[in-house]
Amino acid sequence: MKRLHVLAVPALGLALACLPLAAGAQEKDTNTGLVMAEGWETVRNNCTACHSAKLVTQNSGSRNHWQYLIRWMQETQGLWQFQAETEETILDYLAENYGPKEDARRPPIPRALMPDNPYSTVADSD
Ligand code: HEC
Repeated sequence: MKRLHVLAVPALGLALACLPLAAGAQEKDTNTGLVMAEGWETVRNNCTACHSAKLVTQNSGSRNHWQYLIRWMQETQGLWQFQAETEETILDYLAENYGPKEDARRPPIPRALMPDNPYSTVADSD
């Protein structure tokens, strides 16, 4: 994949450039494994000094979750304060590329779609 990209003729390059959208296969930095999307260098520069970037890439969550983690590291782990703009960039990047896993846990099935419960003592309302 990597090698292909290097050798790719422009037309193929264009096709490959469209791949991330189609397949969700974003290009990743070979050193850190971070998805190379907008803001990734800021994240690399600020989030890999104390621990592996793997800690970042293996986590996922909402923007709030990431902000909570950053506050926690700032309060207890010696993480420095960010300028508002920098923090925005970091949170945008994390929420966008390492957001909540949509298929991690399915929502409960609506009651209307469930089969009748043969043991129910409550009369069904349908
Ligand atoms: C000043 C050092 C430092 C920096 C810089 C730092 N972290 Fe951390 N981070 C830590 C420490 C210490 C831990 C705890 C590691 C452990 O438990 O082994 C941690 C843990 C984590 C975890 C795992 C939390 C969990 O629930 O287990 C994540 C995710 C994380 N950091 C993300 C980030 C992100 C994103 C950034 C950049 C905004 C960042 N870190 C920058 C010190 C830092």
